[in-house]
Parts: sequence; C-alpha cells; structure tokens
Amino acid sequence: MSDTAKLEYQGRIYELPIVEGTEGEKAIDISELRNQSGLITLDPGYVNTGSCTSAITFVDGENGILRYRGIPVEELAEHATFKETAYLLINGRLPNRSELTRFSVLLNDHSLVHEDMREFFSNFPRASHPMGILSSMVNTLRSFYPELQTMEEEINITVTRLLSKVRTLAAMSYKISRGHRVVYPRPDLAYCANFLNMMFDSPVRPYEIDQDVVHALRLFWVLHADHEQNCSTSAVRLVGSARVNLYAAISSGIAALWGPLHGGANQAVIEMLEEIEEKGGDVKPFVKRAKDRNDPFRLMGFGHRIYKAYDPRARIMKKICDTLLEKLHIRDPLLEIAKDLEQTVLEDDWFVEHRLYPNVDFYSGIVLRAIGIPTNMFTVMFAIGRLPGWIAQWKESLDDPNWKLGRPRQIYIGPSLTKFVPLEER
Ligand code: SDX
Repeated sequence: MSDTAKLEYQGRIYELPIVEGTEGEKAIDISELRNQSGLITLDPGYVNTGSCTSAITFVDGENGILRYRGIPVEELAEHATFKETAYLLINGRLPNRSELTRFSVLLNDHSLVHEDMREFFSNFPRASHPMGILSSMVNTLRSFYPELQTMEEEINITVTRLLSKVRTLAAMSYKISRGHRVVYPRPDLAYCANFLNMMFDSPVRPYEIDQDVVHALRLFWVLHADHEQNCSTSAVRLVGSARVNLYAAISSGIAALWGPLHGGANQAVIEMLEEIEEKGGDVKPFVKRAKDRNDPFRLMGFGHRIYKAYDPRARIMKKICDTLLEKLHIRDPLLEIAKDLEQTVLEDDWFVEHRLYPNVDFYSGIVLRAIGIPTNMFTVMFAIGRLPGWIAQWKESLDDPNWKLGRPRQIYIGPSLTKFVPLEER
C-alpha cells in the first residue's frame, strides 16, 4: 500500500497520495484535491510547492549538496569541461569521445550569427543593459532560424545552435556597445577560450589565451549550469508549457534571471562591495542595516531559498578567487572586503539564526572582474552558464507525460458582485 496523507475537512477525510523522490524527499500529490474537496492550496512564492518531478539536478539545501544527473558538482568542477557538463545535463549522461567530437563540431558549425542581426545591436541605445539585449536577441533568433521543433534531430540542432550562438551574441553585444569591431568565433578554440577571444581580441592588441583564465571561466560556467526549479528555470518551464518555441522560453528565463534577487545579485554584490569600499571599507554598518527590519537593504550574495547551509558553489568560487588573483598577480580590495563581510556575517547570531550564508553570487563577481568582464555583463555570464540547465529542464518538460499548460489558481479577495455605474453618475 503506497503512503498517503489524510486531510480532514468539514467532517470528511481525504486521502492524498505521497510521492517520494530518489533521495527520500516526499510530497503530497494534490492533483485531485480540488476535484475531491473543492479546496485549492495557497503558497506565495511556492516555498512549499513542487511544480514537477525531475531527474536532472538534486539540491540538498540542509547539507549543501548539489549534483547534476547524480554527479556531485565538486567532481564536475574538478574533471569536466563546460561542454561535457552541458551534454550531461541535456542528454542525461556524459558523452563518449565520438559524441563529444560530434557535439564540438556542431557547436563550431553553429557559432556564427546571421549578419543581419548586427543591425539589431546597432539600434539599441548605448546605455542598454546587456541582459535586456540578450533576452531580445535570443528571442530574435527565432526569426532567423524558424525550424519547427517536432523531431528529436531538429530539437538537438536548435539546442546546439542556441548553446553556441549565445556566446557570440554576448560578445557581439559587448564589442558593439564599445564601438569596437566584432570578433568572429574561431574553429581552433574550444567553447570558453572562443568566448574570451571574441570578447577581448583586438586588431591592435591580440588577446593572449591564458589557461588560468580559461580554467576559471570553465569552473564559473560549470557551477552555474543548473539549479533545479529556481525562478528563471520555473519561468522557462511555465512559458514553455504554452508550447512556445525554445528561443521564446529561454528569453523569458533570461528576463527572470536579470532580477537582483536572482541572477542579477552577482552585479548587485559588486556594487554593494564598491559602496562599502567608497565608505571606508567598514562592513559593520551594512551588516547592521541588513538586520534592521525597517530597512529594505539586503546583503547581496547572502541567503537562499533552498540552501540553509553554505552554498557549495560559493565555496568553490571563493577558492577560484584566491588562485586566479594570485596567478594573475591581482590584488582586488573588494576581495578583502568580501572576506571580511563573510567572516562578520558567519559570526553574527542573527544571521546564524536566520541560516543566511554566502550563495553562488557572493564571490562570482570577483572572479569575473579578474577575467576582465564588465560588471554590467556579470548576469549575462550567469545566463550563458545556466543555458544548458534551462534547455535540459525545457526538454524534460516536453517529454513529461504529466506535463500540462501551467496555470495556477488563486483565492479572490476583491469586491463581490458590483453594478456598472454610467459616467454621468460617477
Ligand atoms: C540565486 O533559487 C535558486 O536556486 C537561485 C540560484 C540559482 O542557482 O538559480 O541559487 C541563484 O538567485 C541566488 C540568490 C541570489 N540573491 C541574492 O543574493 C539576493 C539577497 N538574498 C535575498 O534577497 C534572499 O536571501 C533570497 C531572495 C535569495 C531568498 O529569500 P527567501 O527564501 O524568499 O526568504 P526571505 O526573503 O523570506 O528571507 C527570510 C528571512 C527574512 O527575515 P525575517 O523577515 O524572517 O526576519 O531572512 C532575511 C529576510 O529579511 N533575509 C535576509 C537576506 N536574505 C534573507 N536579510 C538580509 N540580507 C539577506 N540577503
């Protein structure tokens, strides 16, 4: 007999099935609740509500565990390329050598964008935020590549095309925003190095590929590749449930990630650290403000809906900071401030009681600064990293027999029946 939960309401008992996941997490399946009882559930922010079952990523927020298709993120950070990680998330297993070669060839073949797309970039106001540009340009890809997405092969080509072109679009946006010549992708460079070259190569100063920088970027993107049903992934799934094309679904994910409570936090962290530096470097006034319930200020890069322990990605990101800055002989005062802030928070009872720890965004901006990425492109870097995860989640929802159009209900609290009042009587 499978496990059930009993709900007693107005003298009747409703038995609801319990669903248990691979790692023991359990849920009450309420798909028949309204039919049986007339009741719905209410859960602002979906704090207690699962939207789907998924086999892609496992997060244990109490113990700081993150696994992609069962493999600990620490092992992937140690051994996998970003290409391998993307393939793993999207296809459910690591590629063998011939699959990896074919994937590389496809990524190379699809790395250019239609020349007419350059016109679009030139018409964005110079001060446009790169996330707004990226979201628009990914949506625009549909106009240039209108393939249907009915057969597996077509979906795989569309997926690989997007994984490859997102780098080119991001680098083009950067070059054009600075009035510099666009640098094309090169067939002899792998995924990360190709992006760096498109970003920083110049006719007057050829970009020298530094393997330490490539390694740091690879780690950055592997760590960001997926994170189960976060806000932007949920946006991709919800928009995708209307059966829009992949580009439109991903464009909605980019828009959601832009928010400072979500992926936009990596830019907000650096702006916060710069403000602390400008005000003399003392973190205590900022920690005090963050604890003041009457002050809307939040410590950017701290806290998480799921992690009530140290975010395993932040731990690795902090190590990358130390090793990369040392290898590049960079002394970034913001890193010292960040470490001082972290130490102060971890020793503060209020933060300990609220179980607030550094999240993936806290140290990531320091790494991106050392690589030379402009602050307003930090969330674009997050988006490129998260793209394989969004695609994997979108594909999984397409193949899910239980998946249907996403359409939450509500509890109405507005006025009851009201008569229309003609204009002359108002
Ligand atoms: C990402 O979901 C994912 O997986 C996201 C992500 C991914 O990989 O996709 O991991 C990436 O988005 C990481 C999060 C980046 N955002 C930030 O760093 C912004 C700062 N963090 C917070 O705004 C906050 O922690 C959230 C939004 C991330 C999560 O907050 P919740 O789960 O909605 O909880 P909450 O806002 O209700 O906070 C609970 C309590 C509150 O205090 P009380 O009212 O109960 O007294 O904790 C406090 C909050 O005020 N709190 C903070 C805080 N975060 C929570 N107080 C000060 N500073 C903070 N950063």
